[in-house]
Amino acid sequence: MDQPLLHALLLLAALPLLPAAGALAPPGVCVVGSGIGGASVAYFLKQYTCVEKGGLCLDDIRIFERRGRVGGRMATVTIGGDTFEAGASIIHPKNLHARRFASLLGLNQKTKASKLDPKANASSSSSSPDSSWFGVWDGEHFVFKTLPPPSSSSSTIYRKIHELLNSLLLFRRYGFSLLRMERFVKTTVERFLLYYQGFESRPVFETVEDMLKWSNLYGLTRRTLQVELADAGLSPLLISELVTVITRINYGQNVSISGLAGAVSLAGSDSGLWSVDGGNWQLAAGLVKYTNATLYLHEEIDSVSYSGSYYVLNSTKGNSYNCEATVIATPLDELNITFDPPVLVPNRRLQHTFTTFVRGLLNPNYFGVNSASEIPSLVGTVELPDIPFSSISVLKKYSEEDMTYKVFSRAPLEDVLLDQIFSTRKEVIRINWPAYPHYEAPEVFAPILLDGIHLYYINSFESAASTIETSAVAAENVARLIISRFSGLSSTTPSISSISDQDNLHFDL
Ligand SMILES: Cc1cc2nc3c(=O)[nH]c(=O)nc-3n(C[C@H](O)[C@H](O)[C@H](O)COP(=O)(O)OP(=O)(O)OC[C@H]3O[C@@H](n4cnc5c(N)ncnc54)[C@H](O)[C@@H]3O)c2cc1C
Ligand SMILES: *[C@@H]1O[C@H](CO)[C@@H](O)[C@H](O)[C@H]1NC(C)=O
Ligand SMILES: *[C@@H]1O[C@H](CO)[C@@H](O)[C@H](O)[C@H]1NC(C)=O
Ligand SMILES: *[C@@H]1O[C@H](CO)[C@@H](O)[C@H](O)[C@H]1NC(C)=O
Ligand SMILES: *[C@@H]1O[C@H](CO)[C@@H](O)[C@H](O)[C@H]1NC(C)=O
Ligand SMILES: *[C@@H]1O[C@H](CO)[C@@H](O)[C@H](O)[C@H]1NC(C)=O
Repeated sequence: MDQPLLHALLLLAALPLLPAAGALAPPGVCVVGSGIGGASVAYFLKQYTCVEKGGLCLDDIRIFERRGRVGGRMATVTIGGDTFEAGASIIHPKNLHARRFASLLGLNQKTKASKLDPKANASSSSSSPDSSWFGVWDGEHFVFKTLPPPSSSSSTIYRKIHELLNSLLLFRRYGFSLLRMERFVKTTVERFLLYYQGFESRPVFETVEDMLKWSNLYGLTRRTLQVELADAGLSPLLISELVTVITRINYGQNVSISGLAGAVSLAGSDSGLWSVDGGNWQLAAGLVKYTNATLYLHEEIDSVSYSGSYYVLNSTKGNSYNCEATVIATPLDELNITFDPPVLVPNRRLQHTFTTFVRGLLNPNYFGVNSASEIPSLVGTVELPDIPFSSISVLKKYSEEDMTYKVFSRAPLEDVLLDQIFSTRKEVIRINWPAYPHYEAPEVFAPILLDGIHLYYINSFESAASTIETSAVAAENVARLIISRFSGLSSTTPSISSISDQDNLHFDL
């Protein structure tokens, strides 16, 4: 046997290991957006092909980001010399991807005194205010208030009593409905945990509907939170006060959001919440670095065209990139990306949340009290048209007269209004976030597979709920879908199965 033939035979034997469709190099994946969704999809693609599986290794991953920084809606703001979360600020203790990312990347988890949790540790220093001291504001009065935190010098026994008293206060107003609310949240969180199961028992999903039905969460997207909670036996008072306060804080909306978005929002007032020390954006930045993806900053993609065998991504700067698969990792609702052929995405409105940071002091007169020190560190609001803000919380207390606050509102807070709410104001920073979907029930979902070929959309899952973790969970599924659709073409790695009977073998690359 002569050498060239031997070589040819060896090459043939090696063929099944190569990606199919005649492409000699592994398919390149382009990702639009460097938030947690884009960063996670890059991580999972790399992890599931190059690191854990061997064989097909997807290591040509290019991430495009229109801004000069990574992280998207995870971002920090600096006011008065201190840095705070400006977008996504809290992470649930059972958000397992986020936890794993933090430990993989060596990032410290900072636990937060949880919102609205009387069991949370009382403030031990004046600089980390206790948000278990909260009040429900109806525009004229505090209809409910917990007790101000015990002083830092008080004994453990006193702290326990304080905690108990707050629980009693809550119980007196809302009764056993509180337990029903807790159960509702617990059940939802448990169902969500199914998305961390291994590949053997967890299919790859081609639609958000399939994904939600599998974990038994789909039903919660068909009805409003209000209807779900009334059915679960919660009192109208609990729904219109505490529950509404929480949904207004977390999603800027009232209890007409879907039951699922509502449950996720309520879970955001559990105890054990945490954030990444130095900023949650580091999760995305760390993953991008860790996976060795190529990052293009200041590169806004404005068109995605399918050439018949690959996608051409053009940027506003006139650059052009070719890739076999493209992942859209940003909400398309307020973007002008041209798709050729066009894609069909149902109309979805984004809820804009205006985040205003103020260094100064609240005006006691506005709240009908004698001194700013009587205003709780978290002021939540009920759903009434005349209240110009959703919540106000103390981020840092420098002294009794000098604090930094975060205000959420649905409309911009003009200076005239800030002058009424605050008695002193040294510095103001305003951010207008296209924050999360405007939730409704029944919810309609965009496809994950936008064109039936290799154009994927992570943020279709945001119509279920918008969080750091839901983006990561949706991205993990998209990564598996990409792998299964590419490996379905070659005969190797059939280890990842798809729940859908629509097969992927027919597409010609
Ligand atoms: C005020 C606020 C508070 C929140 N609080 C929490 C919270 O406490 N906990 C929590 O878990 N979640 C919270 N969220 C939700 C959370 O921030 C989001 O669900 C999550 O960060 C979404 O990540 P993503 O990667 O899907 O999208 P994004 O973070 O929006 O990332 C998309 C990226 O794509 C980029 N991009 C867009 N178009 C283009 C283009 N044409 N070309 C190139 N790049 C482009 C954008 O610049 C952006 O960087 C909050 C959100 C807001 C706004
Ligand atoms: C609360 O504080 C005490 C004393 O500082 C500490 O031992 C305990 O672990 C804290 N609990 C939580 C839930 O952080
Ligand atoms: C809640 O918000 C929706 C619009 O998002 C509105 O139609 C509805 O009237 C609001 N509910 C209450 C109780 O105000
Ligand atoms: C990234 O590149 C470095 C240096 O080449 C390498 O050591 C590391 O294993 C790569 N990481 C991944 C996830 O491939
Ligand atoms: C993308 O850019 C290439 C190269 O500049 C150009 O030929 C092509 O027409 C552009 N496509 C779109 C949709 O603009
Ligand atoms: C998208 O295009 C429309 C119409 O041309 C324009 O009004 C809008 O501002 C654009 N949006 C963005 C985010 O560029």
